[in-house]
Amino acid sequence: MTELAPQLLSVPSPSATPVEDRKASNGATLPSARIERPARREQMEESPKLTAEELSAWFGAKQVLQRVSLAIPANRVTAIIGPSGCGKSTLLRCFNRMHETVTGARATGKVRLDGQDIYARGVDPVLIRRQIGMVFQKPNPFPSMSIRDNVLSGLRLTGLLKRELAEGIMERALIQAALWEEVQDRLSEPGISLSGGQQQRLCIARALAVEPEVLLMDEPCSALDPIATARIEDLMHSLSDRYTIVIVTHNMQQAARVSDQTAFLLMGELVEFGATDQLFTSPHDVRTEDYITGKFG
Ligand SMILES: Nc1ncnc2c1ncn2[C@@H]1O[C@H](COP(=O)(O)OP(=O)(O)O)[C@@H](O)[C@H]1O
Ligand SMILES: [Mg+2]
Repeated sequence: MTELAPQLLSVPSPSATPVEDRKASNGATLPSARIERPARREQMEESPKLTAEELSAWFGAKQVLQRVSLAIPANRVTAIIGPSGCGKSTLLRCFNRMHETVTGARATGKVRLDGQDIYARGVDPVLIRRQIGMVFQKPNPFPSMSIRDNVLSGLRLTGLLKRELAEGIMERALIQAALWEEVQDRLSEPGISLSGGQQQRLCIARALAVEPEVLLMDEPCSALDPIATARIEDLMHSLSDRYTIVIVTHNMQQAARVSDQTAFLLMGELVEFGATDQLFTSPHDVRTEDYITGKFG
C-alpha cells in the first residue's frame, strides 16, 4: 500500500462556533442545537484512536467502499452520514472485522486501532470485537435472558467472568448506560420486558460490560421514539468521556446534535470528513452541500 499524505490521517480540529451562529451556507439555520461541549484540546493533539487507510470493501464482485481513509480521534463522537446504501454500515463493520463474517465479503487496505493493524496476521478478530464493540439498529437483547444475564452475556462468552465480580460489573455497566435507576429492582425480569429505548440502553450496557475502547453504533435510534432517542443521544455524549464513539446515522439533525466530527460517504467514497460544525455550515465539497441541503437523499 502507498504511504498516505499526513493530512489524510490528521484529526480534524474542533470548531468553536457557538450554536446560535450556525447557519448553513444557503442561509438556513441548522435544524437543532447540538449538545455543546468544551473543546478538549489536549486530546486533539493525541494520535487517532482508529484509522482507515485506503480501505476498500466488496460483497462478491461488487465494490462498496472505495479507498476510504480517515482518522477517528479518541474520546469524541464521530458521525458517518450518507444516503442509504452508500456503505455506512459496511465501513462500521470493517472497523471491528464484522464485515468478513459475511460469506463472499472481503476488504483491502488497513484499519488501525492505536496504530496497530487489526487485520494483521495473527490478530484474533474476537479480541478486536471486544475492544471495538457494536450496537445495532434494532435493540437485540437475548429474549430468553434476564436483564442481569443480558448485561453479562458478552463477558460470559469470553469465559473470563469471575463470579464474585459479576454483580459489580453488571451494576457499573447499567449505570454507565443510564439504565440502572430504572431496572435495579427488576434485574431478574426478561430483557425483552423493557421498552424499546430501555432495550437499546440494555444493549449498550451489554457492549460496555466487556470494557471496549471503541463503541460503534449503527443507527442506534432509528427504531426509537423521540424521547428514547434523546436519552441515547445524551448517553453518547457522556460516554465519550471514556470511549471513542462512531455513530452511523441517516439523520443529519442527529449527526449535528451529537457528533464532534462528521464523515460524509457517497457511493462508497469518503467525500468529506471534518468538524461537524464546519461540515454542516461550510462544506468544502458541492456534493456534501447538495446532500445536507436536501437536494438528494
Ligand atoms: N450482505 C450483503 N450482501 C451483498 N450486498 C450487500 C450486503 N450488505 C450490504 N450490501 C450492499 O452493499 C452496499 C452498501 O451497503 P451498506 O453498507 O449496508 O449501506 P448503508 O449502511 O449506507 O445503507 C449496498 O449496495 C448494499 O446493497
Ligand atoms: Mg446501514
